[in-house]
Amino acid sequence: MKTFFSIASVAVATFLTFSAPHALAQVPAKAAMCTGCHGENGNSSMPNTPSLAGQNARYIYMQLRDFQEGRRHNDMMSPMTAGLSKADMQELANYFSEQKLTNKRFKADPVKVKKGIDKADETLCAMCHLGEFKGQNEIPKVAGQNFDYVVKTLKDFKAKDRNNDAGNMTSVASTLSEEDIENLAHYIASLN
Ligand code: HEC
Ligand code: HEC
Repeated sequence: MKTFFSIASVAVATFLTFSAPHALAQVPAKAAMCTGCHGENGNSSMPNTPSLAGQNARYIYMQLRDFQEGRRHNDMMSPMTAGLSKADMQELANYFSEQKLTNKRFKADPVKVKKGIDKADETLCAMCHLGEFKGQNEIPKVAGQNFDYVVKTLKDFKAKDRNNDAGNMTSVASTLSEEDIENLAHYIASLN
């Protein structure tokens, strides 16, 4: 029955796409309040606001839950989770994970990118984030993420202001200098 419904909804979505090219299939009603900051389809152009497009659904869901339950805090973001049910969070996570990351405004410095690659190899970032920061399950994709946000969040981990990571990132970030963070962010923001 479940399979029947998903096949049926894919068929309906396909039908809608073909019959009405401008209609977006199944945008959750609550996504409208997210795109004001996270950008159209989750492609953010606000410096300290991460893009959500193409992010792992599992990671998005877990961050929303952490913000709601106070394990992660941000003055702009935390209040946004107040009225969300578990089903809302799952629906939003699925929606944003299916969007395409298209935001490519950052002009990386090739010398810093090279240093960032060396630091990433030395620190074994790929052990968790996989090659080129593609991410997996609850480990976020960071490839192509906003430069300023990557710098900010690595500094937050280093200062332990962000500590909802079960120690994985706070311990990695404690080994990074400000310069390492800058170089890593040039590398990460230049990826797809
Ligand atoms: C007023 C602006 C604003 C609105 C509206 C907003 N957010 Fe955010 N969001 C932020 C900021 C800023 C951050 C980064 C927080 C930090 O630095 O820790 C963030 C972080 C996040 C993260 C963590 C992403 C990551 O890479 O770790 C998720 C997931 C998220 N928001 C989802 C949503 C969803 C879903 C909505 C709509 C229900 C929403 N946001 C609405 C500003 C906003
Ligand atoms: C031991 C596993 C592990 C290693 C090694 C690791 N990470 Fe992470 N990283 C994680 C996990 C898990 C999270 C998500 C934490 C959370 O739930 O808040 C994360 C989150 C991040 C984020 C925040 C992404 C976002 O959208 O907010 C950045 C940036 C990041 N890692 C960069 C790096 C870099 C750069 C390195 C290497 C210098 C690295 N990580 C090494 C496990 C790891």
